[in-house]
Parts: sequence; C-alpha cells; structure tokens
Amino acid sequence: MTQDERKDAVAAAAIDEIEPWLERSTILGIGTGSTANRFIDRLARFRDDFKGAVASSEASAERLHGHGIEVFELNSVGTVPFYIDGADEVNAHLHLIKGGGAALTREKIVAACAERFICIADASKRVERLGRFPLPVEVIPMARSYVARELVKLGADPVYREGVITDNGNQILDCFDFMIDDPVAMETRINAIVGVVTNGLFAARGADVLLLGGESSVERRT
Ligand code: A5P
Repeated sequence: MTQDERKDAVAAAAIDEIEPWLERSTILGIGTGSTANRFIDRLARFRDDFKGAVASSEASAERLHGHGIEVFELNSVGTVPFYIDGADEVNAHLHLIKGGGAALTREKIVAACAERFICIADASKRVERLGRFPLPVEVIPMARSYVARELVKLGADPVYREGVITDNGNQILDCFDFMIDDPVAMETRINAIVGVVTNGLFAARGADVLLLGGESSVERRT
C-alpha cells in the first residue's frame, strides 16, 4: 500500500471502530491533518446517524461544514465519546508528538474532553523514541524569545515557524535535535515555562487506541 492508501485504511478502520456506537445525539471530536481529513470524508456517509462534531481547527470545521456535518462549540458540548486524530510520531506507549499542522492546542483540548482518543496514523509515524519529528510548542507571541531560551536550556534547538499564526493567534517554535526519554515529564516541564500555551507532546494523556496502517493491514493497539 502507498502512504495515501494506508491513511485511507486507518480512516476506514476508525469508522468501523465508532460506527456501532453512533446515536442521533452523538457529537464526535475531530482532529486535523491529512489523515483526519480522510476520516472526515468517510464520516460524511454517516452524517444522518449522529448529531455533529467538535473540530480541533478552523480547517477541519470548514471541511465538516462542507460535508453538511454540524459543528458545535466545545463549551456547549462538554464531553465527546470519541476524539479521532492523526499524529506526527507515536511510540509503544501510545505517547504522541502532534502539531505539525499547528493545531496542537485545540487538539489537546478536545482530546482532554474525550472518553476515548483514537489515533489514526500510517506506520511511518511509529518510533522507538519520540523526537525525530521537531516538537512543536505554541507560545504567546511576546514570550517567543524567552521561551526559546528556556527550551535551549532543556537541550532543544527551537526554530520559529515563520509566517504561521495558530487559530488562537499565537506562534510556534519547533524543537529540533530533541530526543525525548521521558515524554510525560517533558510535557509537564515545557508547559511550566511562562509564555507556553501548550506543547505537542501528548503523553500525560496519550491515545487510548492506535490504528496503525501497515504494508498490508491495519494494526490495532491499546
Ligand atoms: C495537526 O496539528 C497535527 O497534530 C496532525 O494531527 C499531525 O500533523 C498529523 O498530520 P497528518 O495526518 O497530515 O500526517
């Protein structure tokens, strides 16, 4: 299978995972990125079987709207039974790096409100140790240089993602050369830096289910 076919396969597997639980009152949490987009496109076929969705980005909200799926504001919803999203890296503990699309903060918020986080990814995202993918950190713009200096003290080489403004009006620092031994501790450590909105480590709350698209099949891990 090509990478695109693997993304399609995990999107289909995620539909199989949630479809038995859909009710007319169900509101789903939906992520961001090319894999999540494939899931959204498949979900459209079931749009009469559930109520709507909460989106982790303006881009996903727009795509959902385009399919006639109603998009709700998280504050009016409370919790969602499922959050379905991709990842940039995933390890054996289902800890993730996310935020390649700059949507990490809203992704983390919707994931926090989900009973189950279903991560969909092709096998190229699986790693032994997180960090080859540059860890994104969303920062309040006036704190960018300060946060960058603090990240250097932690061993990272932060690079300003120029020209990118998040849906929350903030900026992104990508941490290069930053292999992570203890994702839970590092997630907490980075979040404690003043001016950090959030970081792309999803470890304290990682995925609950991983659907990983391999060469010929989809592997399910919990
Ligand atoms: C968006 O900010 C990211 O967290 C995406 O979920 C992640 O980059 C995966 O994207 P793809 O599915 O496009 O690889």
